[in-house]
Amino acid sequence: MSSTGSTYGGSSVGAGTTHQASAPDTDVLGVSPVPAGHLVAEVVEDLSVFDGVTTERARAIITRYPQSRSALLPMLHLVQSVEGRVSQAGIQFCARELNLTAAEVSAVATFYTMYKRKTCGEHLVSVCTNTLCAVLGGDEIYQRLGEHLGEGGKRLGHNETAGEPGSTGSITLEHAECLAACDLGPVIQVNYEFYDNQTPETALDLVQALQRGEKPAPTRGAPLRDFRTAELELAGFWPDDEAGYRSTVDGPSAAVETLRGAKLAEDRGWTAPAMPNPPLPEVEKK
Ligand code: FES
Repeated sequence: MSSTGSTYGGSSVGAGTTHQASAPDTDVLGVSPVPAGHLVAEVVEDLSVFDGVTTERARAIITRYPQSRSALLPMLHLVQSVEGRVSQAGIQFCARELNLTAAEVSAVATFYTMYKRKTCGEHLVSVCTNTLCAVLGGDEIYQRLGEHLGEGGKRLGHNETAGEPGSTGSITLEHAECLAACDLGPVIQVNYEFYDNQTPETALDLVQALQRGEKPAPTRGAPLRDFRTAELELAGFWPDDEAGYRSTVDGPSAAVETLRGAKLAEDRGWTAPAMPNPPLPEVEKK
């Protein structure tokens, strides 16, 4: 299993910890067998995987919001930083801390694709197969990586993992919808960091390096972390040495291609017509 390898504190939480997932991959929608006379019985999970540090972090997240239920999205990322997925225990942990029902938390956790129902590998490799990237080679990249990571002639499928989930070099593969970098397609993300202008060959080199335990630098942005550390950052917790960390971020994010249209307009003196500014409609008071 992986550890963060760094000390993460955030604004009000202390030293980092090493997280391990021990529970099997029960789907977050899993429920117990239906006993006679009942429709559904909720299994009460052992929440001990969410230790004191995690609980303290959860409560620090909650204090950021005027209404506690607004903390659910970052809390689900926090849960994934511990278990590499959102498990039934993670659902119940969030429900307990936010005074919500497990059904309310499940409804959110199963809506967004960033919340995983199976334990992810050390790295989550997301291949954009949306229209533009697909025609530029994204489909071929996804196919090539699936073949490389599969076994016995069977291609690795969407959200499947090659290697023991969480162990060094393990890879979860997914195809993704537009990753908002169409100007640099075909793109891949690893733990949500960008690798731009890929080909099947460069993508394969990247994945093979990840399998060897290397962390090739993304094209732009922050250095590559493992999936669970990225999830901790998405929950809002940064290394205690935040200034040192920020100095490693390679920006800016806007590439030459990103700004080409604006540059053309500037060179040619093109301007956009003024935006109409009609008054906002009156809202009927209830
Ligand atoms: S279509 Fe791939 S980033 Fe937009």
